[in-house]
Amino acid sequence: MSPSAQTLAPFDVHTLREREFPSATRAPYLNAAAVAPLPERAVRAVDAYNRRRASAHDLAGDDFEPTLARARQAAARLVGAHADEIALLPNTSFGINLAAHVLPLHPGRRVVVSDREFPANVYPWMQLARNGGAALDLVPADEHGRPDEARLLAEIERGDVGIFALSAVQFASGYNAVLERFGQACREHGTFFVVDAIQALGQVPVDVRAARVDVLATGGHKWLCGPFGTGFAYVRRELAAELEPRVVGWTAMAGTLDYSRLLDYRYEFWDTARRFEVATLPFQDVAGLTESMTMLDEVGPARIREHLLGLLDPLVGWIQETESAEIVSDLRPEHRSGIFCFRPRDAERAFQALTRAGVACVLREGAIRVSPHLYNTENDIAVVMEVLSEGW
Ligand SMILES: Cc1ncc(COP(=O)(O)O)c(C=O)c1O
Repeated sequence: MSPSAQTLAPFDVHTLREREFPSATRAPYLNAAAVAPLPERAVRAVDAYNRRRASAHDLAGDDFEPTLARARQAAARLVGAHADEIALLPNTSFGINLAAHVLPLHPGRRVVVSDREFPANVYPWMQLARNGGAALDLVPADEHGRPDEARLLAEIERGDVGIFALSAVQFASGYNAVLERFGQACREHGTFFVVDAIQALGQVPVDVRAARVDVLATGGHKWLCGPFGTGFAYVRRELAAELEPRVVGWTAMAGTLDYSRLLDYRYEFWDTARRFEVATLPFQDVAGLTESMTMLDEVGPARIREHLLGLLDPLVGWIQETESAEIVSDLRPEHRSGIFCFRPRDAERAFQALTRAGVACVLREGAIRVSPHLYNTENDIAVVMEVLSEGW
């Protein structure tokens, strides 16, 4: 769906940042693709939890099971899944490893990954290849370093791909993959579809059912605006009920809630994605993540995406007009996201100038990466243009 084809009522960014992101007014923070700030409501939830824990008598039943249940529900809402399909995990890598360890790969079937993926979505597959003898093919990116959609689809269509893994949004270009196309091809050819969603969730809509995703993994500290050490995986229901965890812990077992029978050692996994939750979780941070995800859901990923593209448009237009930088990001509407990368003639110098002006952004692969989020305004992007127009 073309983002410009839909027009949603904008949200009130000024009220939102006053309430939730007061520090966003200090200087342009354009670095959600690295780490996003915590909204006030998440800080309050974490603090309140820790406060109750500091006087441990105040920790109530609600602070344990229901805290986890609320997080699974909020995560499920964001990706269009059911809470039974969500496992709360500490980061993206844990979820990608989960997929690499449990998805059955029959002899002769390959693992296919796009080259130039963030390493979190490469090393687990390399390990599978080294230990399990599976063939791993890193399919060359296009001349701009983005996933080569046609080539990737052609690989899947060869019919011998057991697992295909892709980031929903690429970290170094912001390329937004049309997951539905890959998911459809994977389903037709008996290929498991694994998605690294950390650069997508919270800034673009993701629907795991429409995209026929088998396993999706994310951490919480980027666009989800959650605490470090939080994240989750979606595991499609039929797989969640069947696949046997390779990392096994006591909370993976269905009998885990009956503390009077823990020593029966009943080796029966939950028949939901909970079987992939290994042990005690950081409840206070999970409570914070729930607040952040609920806030994002209230604003709505589609509206957030529209907001971000609207913010970036003037910068894109200005660079095109002045021809002062090579644009790394794909500008076709369906492939745009809130990550915009461009390579000025002297990227290092331009980056230093931005840093001196207090603009938070990063250099990735020789390009400047700006990644605004729902708390940014046109003024933040105007500062970037102002700085860059002063000679770079
Ligand atoms: C695409 C992608 N995947 C994963 C990660 C991080 O992985 P993890 O959550 O395991 O630290 C990043 C960035 O740090 C990323 O850009």
